Amino acid sequence: MTGVLDLVRPDLRAFAGYASARREKASGHVWLNANESPWPSSADSGLGLNRYPEPQPKALRERMAELYGVKPEQLMVSRGSDEGIDLLVRGFCRAGVDGVLIAPPTFGMYAVSARVQNAPLIEVPLIDHDDRFELDITAVSDVIEHGEVRVVFLCTPANPTGQALSLKDIARLAKAADGKAVVVADEAYAEFSSIGPATALLRDHSNLVLLRTLSKAYAMAGARIGALIADADVVAVLRSLQAPYPVPAPSAAIALEALSDASRRESRERIATLLSERARLAKALRALPGLTAVYASESNFLLARFRDADDALRRLLAAGVVVRDMRAMPQLGDALRISVGTPDENAVLIEALK
Ligand SMILES: Cc1ncc(COP(=O)(O)O)c(C=O)c1O
Repeated sequence: MTGVLDLVRPDLRAFAGYASARREKASGHVWLNANESPWPSSADSGLGLNRYPEPQPKALRERMAELYGVKPEQLMVSRGSDEGIDLLVRGFCRAGVDGVLIAPPTFGMYAVSARVQNAPLIEVPLIDHDDRFELDITAVSDVIEHGEVRVVFLCTPANPTGQALSLKDIARLAKAADGKAVVVADEAYAEFSSIGPATALLRDHSNLVLLRTLSKAYAMAGARIGALIADADVVAVLRSLQAPYPVPAPSAAIALEALSDASRRESRERIATLLSERARLAKALRALPGLTAVYASESNFLLARFRDADDALRRLLAAGVVVRDMRAMPQLGDALRISVGTPDENAVLIEALK
């Protein structure tokens, strides 16, 4: 295993980031070091928002580390996994030099972050088997071998196509990329997949990074809480690139509650409901004459191809149902992505498409 820190942008290796007031270790009871208001606002319901928050809220970081089965120092709490994606590209790719590999059609933020950093984008299209998509592992390995990419984004389960990679394939790619690139398994939808998360692979692959989020299975999309999980040294480097106070105190507080034992039980029950609804919805959609394909999904959505997607969208809109039009994406010229909703919502969708 080669030192993953050698892959960090050379100009950032000794960079410590902004030394915020909250980062300095200090104890006391008269806080006059951060130019804050000494009084809470009357709008503040006890959260003490006159004070800057902990850059990495300790209780939340520990709870998330426990949830994902890693040590707190291996985990960075982020503003959604979107922030993790951005920090990875900024930390590992020299502008105009080091590439980012994606497998389209895929989640759009990888390309956005690459563009913002002026990192060359290398695309290895997914293989379409008509009822499921597949990553072209050989082609991805070849690109990694070439040495021009520094960050490889593996979306697993994949958005919008729904398939998940086996842990064996993730390990194989991380091994191929050892000393060459960071392999990122974006596991935003891991809770809905029959293939478990890749956490166990971290021990043997210091260039593997996992992205998790509370936005999906834990119903916290509005709180913007994600996690980047990696070798503790990688986490320390990326922390220095992060904004001084990335996690607002109200978000940290509500996220902690969303991970209480009771809330976790509720989430597990809801995941089970969504999985059975996913199967029911897929079956009902496959029975409709207007659909030509419904792809296998390890996630909380279904990707479907339509004979006439315009007509389907019109009918859905008339029934007040909003789905995601994927037709601008490569290979998806006739496809819509449908999030699995409550049983009632799914019934409205099916009725509108009948
Ligand atoms: C694959 C994937 N990764 C990351 C994200 C971003 O999630 P977050 O809300 O944690 O920023 C999404 C959001 O839809 C996603 O689909």
